[in-house]
Amino acid sequence: MKQKNEPSFDESVLNIKSVLYFIVIAIMALIFFIFQIFNTSGSIIPLPKFQAFEVDSIQSKAPSKYSKSSENYWIAPDITSLKGSALESQILYGKELIQNTAKYLGPKGSVAQISNGMNCQNCHLDAGTKIYGNNYGSVASTFPKFRARSGTEENIYKRVNDCFERSLNGQPLDTTSAEMQAIKAYMLFLGSNVEKGTVVKGSGLKDLLFLDRAANPESGKKIYLAKCASCHMADGKGVKAQDGIAYTYPPLWGSNSYNMGAGLYRLSNFAKYVKYNMPLGATYEAPQLTDEEAWDLAAFVNSQSRPTKATPNDWPDISKKPIDHPFGPYSDQFDEKQHKYGPFKPIAEAKKSKQNK
Ligand code: HEC
Ligand code: HEC
Repeated sequence: MKQKNEPSFDESVLNIKSVLYFIVIAIMALIFFIFQIFNTSGSIIPLPKFQAFEVDSIQSKAPSKYSKSSENYWIAPDITSLKGSALESQILYGKELIQNTAKYLGPKGSVAQISNGMNCQNCHLDAGTKIYGNNYGSVASTFPKFRARSGTEENIYKRVNDCFERSLNGQPLDTTSAEMQAIKAYMLFLGSNVEKGTVVKGSGLKDLLFLDRAANPESGKKIYLAKCASCHMADGKGVKAQDGIAYTYPPLWGSNSYNMGAGLYRLSNFAKYVKYNMPLGATYEAPQLTDEEAWDLAAFVNSQSRPTKATPNDWPDISKKPIDHPFGPYSDQFDEKQHKYGPFKPIAEAKKSKQNK
C-alpha cells in the first residue's frame, strides 16, 4: 500500500512544473520592470498620466478593423478591453460626460454651468455608438479636418465646442480641462478601430433623398401631435427628470433647445436624424417614419421659436454653404425660404451645373 503523505509520481512532476512556471514568470516580470524604468517615452505601456495624447498611441495597439474598403457597419470597441489600463478611467469619464452632460455641465452642473440642460447623448444616441444615430465612429479618423463652415482646419476640441455653443446653446469648454480631455479620449477610443482617413459605414447620419416639393410645416404639425408630442410634449418643451437636472424627454424647441446655429436647425440633418431614430426605438433597419413625414416634421419643428446665435464668421466662402443653410447671402438666385424648406432639387441641380462649367 502507498504511504498517504508521499506524493505520487504525477504530483511531483506537477510540482516541478509549477516551480518552473513560477521562475519563468518571475524572470519575465523582472525584465518588464527593468524595461519600464528605462522606458521614459511611456509608449509600450501607457504610464498613468491624465493629459492629452495622440490618436496614434491608441490606434497602434490593435490593427484597424475598419478601412475604406470595409463592407461592415461600424461597431464601437469594447471599453471592458481597457481593464487595468491607465486610460480606462479617463475614457469612462468621457463617456459619462456624453451621457450625463447636464449633471456636470448643465444649468445645475457640478463642474461648471455652461450648457442648456441637454445631454450630448440626446442627439448622439447610445453614448455616440448607435448606427446612424449620429455616432462618433468617424471622428478620430477624420479630425483634424477642413470645415467650410468655419473656413479653417478644425480639431476635435473645436468640433466638440461647436456642439456646446450651438446644440447645447452654451459656452465652450476650456480645451485643457479634465472634461474636454476626457471627451477627446473617449472619441479617440471609439475611433481606435477605424483606419485614419476612413468615414466608416454607419457613422453619423444616414442620407435621405430630397422631396420633389417643399417640406410642409402644417403637415409636420399633424404628424408631430400624433407621433412625437406624447414624449416631447405639445409645446415642444420636453419633460424634465424628477431631479430637475436633465431631461427624460429633451426639448425640441423653446429656450432650452438647440439654437439656430446648430446642426439640427438644418432641415436635412433633422430629417435624417428622426427618420432613423424617432419615435424612440426606431433604427435604420426599422424606421417608423416615411421620408415625407421626416421632412415635414423637420419643417414644423424648425419653424418654432428657439434661441438665436450670431455666427458672423460662418461660411466665409458663401458658395460652400449647404443647400439647406437657412441664412443668406447665397451665391445662387434662390431665396432664404427655399434654402430653408426646399424644394431642394432645383438648388442642387443649379449647383451641379455651375460646378461642371
Ligand atoms: C441637439 C442635438 C445635438 C446635441 C445635444 C449635441 N450634438 Fe453634436 N452633433 C449634432 C449634429 C446634428 C451633428 C452633425 C452636424 C453636421 O454634420 O452638420 C453633430 C456633430 C458632432 C460631432 C462631429 C461628428 C462627425 O462625425 O464629424 C462631434 C464631435 C459632436 N457633435 C460632439 C458633441 C458633443 C461632445 C456634444 C455634447 C457636449 C454634442 N455633440 C451634443 C447634434 C447634437
Ligand atoms: C417614447 C418617447 C419618444 C417619442 C414618441 C419621440 N421621442 Fe424624440 N426623443 C426621445 C428621447 C428619450 C430622446 C433622447 C434620447 C437619449 O437621450 O438617449 C429623444 C431625442 C430626440 C431628438 C434629439 C434631441 C433634441 O431634443 O433635440 C429629436 C430631434 C427628437 N427626439 C425628435 C422626435 C420626433 C420628431 C418625434 C416624433 C416622430 C419623436 N422624437 C418621438 C423620446 C421620444
